[in-house]
Amino acid sequence: MPSRNDRSGEGSEAGGEGPQEPLVDRQLELDLLRQHIVRVTETGKGHAVLILGESGVGKSRLAAEAAAEARQRGMTVTSVRCLGRGAEPLLPLKEALAAYLGRTPDQIRRTLARAAPHLLDAVPFIGAFLANIGEKLAEGSFSLRGVYEELSRILIRTTSGNAGLFLLVDDLHAADPDTLYFLNYFFRKLQQVPVLAVATIQEEQLNDYPELADLMAEWAAIGHATLTVVPLERAHVGEYVRTMSAMGEQADESTVDRLFRLTGGNPFFLREALSLVTQSPESHLADDVALPRADAILRRRLSRADEVTRHFLRAAAVVLDTSEELAPITYVMEGDTKDAIDALNKACEIRLMREGPGGEVSFVHALMQREVYADMGANQRRYLHARAGEWFERNGALASAAFHFEQAGRFDQMVKTGYQAASQAERAGMYHTALMLYQKLRPHVSIEDLGPRLAAALIVLGDWDEANQLIGLLPVEDSSSIRAASAPICAFDRAWHHGPDRRRGACGAVLGPIAAPPGMRVSR
Ligand SMILES: Nc1ncnc2c1ncn2[C@@H]1O[C@H](COP(=O)(O)OP(=O)(O)OP(=O)(O)O)[C@@H](O)[C@H]1O
Ligand SMILES: [Mg+2]
Repeated sequence: MPSRNDRSGEGSEAGGEGPQEPLVDRQLELDLLRQHIVRVTETGKGHAVLILGESGVGKSRLAAEAAAEARQRGMTVTSVRCLGRGAEPLLPLKEALAAYLGRTPDQIRRTLARAAPHLLDAVPFIGAFLANIGEKLAEGSFSLRGVYEELSRILIRTTSGNAGLFLLVDDLHAADPDTLYFLNYFFRKLQQVPVLAVATIQEEQLNDYPELADLMAEWAAIGHATLTVVPLERAHVGEYVRTMSAMGEQADESTVDRLFRLTGGNPFFLREALSLVTQSPESHLADDVALPRADAILRRRLSRADEVTRHFLRAAAVVLDTSEELAPITYVMEGDTKDAIDALNKACEIRLMREGPGGEVSFVHALMQREVYADMGANQRRYLHARAGEWFERNGALASAAFHFEQAGRFDQMVKTGYQAASQAERAGMYHTALMLYQKLRPHVSIEDLGPRLAAALIVLGDWDEANQLIGLLPVEDSSSIRAASAPICAFDRAWHHGPDRRRGACGAVLGPIAAPPGMRVSR
């Protein structure tokens, strides 16, 4: 039986199934990534590379191979894994920093003393950030720029003694808004520092995330690179099939043809289809061609789980968009911890899930999670999301709670937790999250309630046009504070063309009357 570490190793640092599996083809892509690494280590100037392609095509695998190469060349590798757009703001960065710096103040102090003694002054910020981003940072009240700047400083400086930093961002399409905009802030600083940021993005998600698509266009315009990964060709599918020695005699040309037709050269489906053939050689894959390939292959794999394990998987498919912990899954499945651990063990044994060294739980692949989720009825999904909402609310993860209540169709609870989460996010300087939450609430609350807060968030983020339009919609006669806000907004618009000092002054004038949350400091 594999050990716990074997299981986590199966996933490798950036998802996928890890470098121990043979890598077919991709020489061109790896050469390109190698050139990016060399450029950064030799010139000391950084940039970002966006690895784009369909789900399962091998983006994370390529990024992990490049990370191994970077490590060999003396770079520090830090991995950021985005969970879902509704997760707590900056949670992926918190997890990445905790994995690098440690989780207790003592560990953090020791790592910093070793790697970057000049950063010891950042210990209180790091402590607050790692403890509980929303709550602890909110106590101190931070500006948007304050948090982003401090995080950038920490990421850059902790690696200054080495050849540079290789920042691996897996699944950027699943980033919460503040993680996305922090990275945008960070990417703009890379020219002066030896940092190579490599981010994987599922191209099919871009239509649903226009903010990411817009930022990608901006990043391309300022010189960051994009690397598109396409499925394997027929010849490489053949090579893959022959390389997997367990195939033995079955690796004839007609099997390769069938696998190529069924999987379209997508390595994830190829691996799954091949394991079906090897485990049950009598398997009639041709029969499945009529079914969509994802359903055909993934359902077969899932059918190996018993009923309790399936129940666990369903709870996990709902929870893992906002967390990697076992506790919320246990709550959602209405079992005790022992049941959950038993089911997790079984799911790991049949390679449906994996467990990291710190107890982080995840599906072996996002496609598996999507399949489990899609297989549930709407009522069951809503019920499980409602329980997840309860758990996250009780545990102070209010943005996650709002996300789950929204999915559950529990709009009263979504509004309550969404307002709380947005206020907390504003106090912690995370206006992108606040804005996303306000927009989520918009169809469910009156514009009189929401308008002033939404306008304030838009103004802090510099979206004057949208703010102006919004204020135009408000019944000005009913709200003196909003009326007071309209004039400074025009002044703000004009001041925008007169440099940052005038801008900041005008911003204060606007936000005062709109009752900006206490402690909010405006800086752009
Ligand atoms: N060139 C390759 N040769 C052999 N196996 C590969 C290759 N590329 C990817 N794989 C394997 O295929 C599976 C899917 O790859 P990976 O997880 O990297 O896909 P992905 O593009 O990151 O998908 P997603 O967008 O869903 O995260 C993994 O098990 C990976 O090891
Ligand atoms: Mg991936």
